[in-house]
Amino acid sequence: MGDAVLEYVTGFVDERYRAPSADYDGAFELARSLQETPPQEGRDLKELLDVIDRAARKGFDTAGPGFVAYIPGGGLYAAALADLIACVTNRYTAIAAPAPALVQLEANVLRWFCDLFGFPKTSQGILTPGGSMANFSAVVTARAAKLGERFLDGAVYVSEHVHHSITKSAAIAGLPRAAIRTVATDQRLRMDVSALQDMVAEDRRAGLRPFMVVGSAGTVNTGAIDPLEDIAAAARKEGLWFHVDAAYGGFFQLTERGHQRLRGIEEADSITLDPHKGMFLPYGTGSLIVRDGEALREAHQVHAHYLPDSSPNPDLPDFADYSPELTRDFRGLRVWLPLHLHGIKTFREALDEKLDLARLVYDSLVDIPELEVPWGPELSIVAFRPRGANEEDAARLLDSINASRRVWLSSAEVRGKTYLRVCIVSHRTRRDRIEECIEIVAKAAAEL
Ligand SMILES: Cc1ncc(COP(=O)(O)O)c(C=O)c1O
Repeated sequence: MGDAVLEYVTGFVDERYRAPSADYDGAFELARSLQETPPQEGRDLKELLDVIDRAARKGFDTAGPGFVAYIPGGGLYAAALADLIACVTNRYTAIAAPAPALVQLEANVLRWFCDLFGFPKTSQGILTPGGSMANFSAVVTARAAKLGERFLDGAVYVSEHVHHSITKSAAIAGLPRAAIRTVATDQRLRMDVSALQDMVAEDRRAGLRPFMVVGSAGTVNTGAIDPLEDIAAAARKEGLWFHVDAAYGGFFQLTERGHQRLRGIEEADSITLDPHKGMFLPYGTGSLIVRDGEALREAHQVHAHYLPDSSPNPDLPDFADYSPELTRDFRGLRVWLPLHLHGIKTFREALDEKLDLARLVYDSLVDIPELEVPWGPELSIVAFRPRGANEEDAARLLDSINASRRVWLSSAEVRGKTYLRVCIVSHRTRRDRIEECIEIVAKAAAEL
């Protein structure tokens, strides 16, 4: 079975460089044709792999080099091998006692995340299924630490470009919708910190309890980075929990340029980081690090008799005490194996390359007279739209670029206008495909 599956997946990886960046022909018909209930008698693996293969070919090719839409992840092969091992050994890592040494490997990865941002030894991280769940735990931790059990008058400050998972987190953390307070942004789409301070003061006068401010380190629309140092200072002055949503941008900290641009992030109380974005890992790998590990624990821990005894070692956490989850996959191995196999330097160089490629996209597109490219890339996203065009033209340009099937872009609304965006994060997106992308965009813009 293993041989057959490995033959299939290695073939799949090889094919990515030739495969269309999306294929929708008959996709929904195929989905309908696959409606079924499981059989009473087992079927042949080859036959089943064929079903999986036909299904996997339809939709966006999120593992391919041409996928520059949304926030790509790519999916490192070594992480898949780690998952295979993790699933077969099926060790229990939610609590330290059942597998202390494996839990240590996950704890090491999280300590490295904390060290990367200069967090103290008393900090603690968790691996989550993604950035949304990391943001959720951050909101719950901030709420518990700052407001206690009566929190309906709490207020959370975000910029208009914050990821919607923060708003969703606040809602499912029991805060009223009105608790999300949207702060204006400047020309570079970064939070206006003096507007933040005015809003906090006004809200206090109106009887609200401001408790949290969220800075984005790489907004999903344009990759804008909020002025983290200034937000940190304002948060300190106002006694707010300072969370940085660095789901997309956080791992650029590994590079010299990223480190410069993210200045101030090390002052955060908590940071969301998505290894399934900036570390090229497969979907399902997010993380949250919290400066005060005890605050994370206090917000999540509930005792139960039937669980094994707590970890006797303070460096070896019982992850279930720091997270909404109890039983979960052994995510740590999926991060640990690629990090140790390839080394940090490889990740740094790959991220540096993505910064260079985004700069190349920007420098090339600003020279195209038919395009408006308002913001230089802070990280690896470049947004643009047809100059002086209406929304329909922008949509037509996107369709025409994506019809190439060599690249797949998505769009975003910024200040009421639709922008197309190229986001370069997949490890498979290299210079050759980006040069081709630029040619495709230039041709489509000229023909619009
Ligand atoms: C800035 C930001 N925060 C949070 C998220 C949510 O992450 P996930 O999709 O892993 O839940 C995203 C996803 O793109 C994001 O870009």
